[in-house]
Amino acid sequence: MKKDLVTEYDLADEDFDLLFARARELKRFLKEGRPHQVLAGKTLGMIFEKASTRTRLSFEVGMYQLGGLAVFLSTNDTQLGRGETVADTAKIMSRYLDAIMIRTFAQKTVEDLAVHAAIPVINGLTDLLHPCQILSDLFTIMEIKGDCRGLKIAYIGDGNNVANSWINAAARLPLKLALACPEGYEPDAALLTRGRKEAREGICLCRDPEEAVENAQVVYTDVWASMGQEAEREHRSRVFRPYQVNENLLSYAREDYIVMHCLPAHRGEEITSEVIDGPHSVVLDQAENRLHVQKAILETLMKKEKES
Ligand code: CP
Ligand code: NVA
Repeated sequence: MKKDLVTEYDLADEDFDLLFARARELKRFLKEGRPHQVLAGKTLGMIFEKASTRTRLSFEVGMYQLGGLAVFLSTNDTQLGRGETVADTAKIMSRYLDAIMIRTFAQKTVEDLAVHAAIPVINGLTDLLHPCQILSDLFTIMEIKGDCRGLKIAYIGDGNNVANSWINAAARLPLKLALACPEGYEPDAALLTRGRKEAREGICLCRDPEEAVENAQVVYTDVWASMGQEAEREHRSRVFRPYQVNENLLSYAREDYIVMHCLPAHRGEEITSEVIDGPHSVVLDQAENRLHVQKAILETLMKKEKES
């Protein structure tokens, strides 16, 4: 049976540790200049309906380093953008490729693609989720803190795709999650309900960013207006003003806290330059680790595909 990564729930419990261990190994191989072309001859199709810097680079460079080929497909240049159905696209792509990565708007598009494709489908971000980001962030936390289990993660700002993926992560791994979001900008209600049922350490949703950050080892934020919400940016920047991650807010965190942001950042909005460039910030490690974790994901899914 082929395996997809459409949500964090697609991974079995044991997959998390296997994935992180392999990412660590692949990172070491790259630093040592040791070839690791385990996907020689394999191909990945990358559909982008939204902009990207990190996701495109990490998947494209990752496939090259693994010995395979990544093909970039923007909706403007494919028949998908001219009305060819997701189902037809999935079936056709399955005849050429070994896996598909897609960044799009609706989560349903990724789900449909996965249903109709005979090859693994990876969610490279939707309006609902960003699983590749959160897996890579968990890896970064483990690298820096030794483990992510038992830590308190404070997510401050918009209840967007990244916040939703944090909820799914807290449902799957024993970490304490505290989210602070303004009224009307909460994370997805269904994911929150499911997450709260499954989480071992609890998921707390509050209004007060100071309460969320209190004693946190990880303070995370993301843009206030995500891709597709550009028209709301001005209004949102007023609503979200009290949710800025700045030195004052961080004084409530634990002494050894780290600051994370999936990037791109809007400096002076959700985070100050002082903080993002400061000594507690690990945003560049996060961005780099997208490469190593993406490679581990690609290898895991394509290997499982071969075994089945
Ligand atoms: N964090 C992230 O997914 O970055 P890009 O939008 O640049 O891919
Ligand atoms: N929430 C952001 C994440 C970008 C990586 C967005 O969807 O635009």
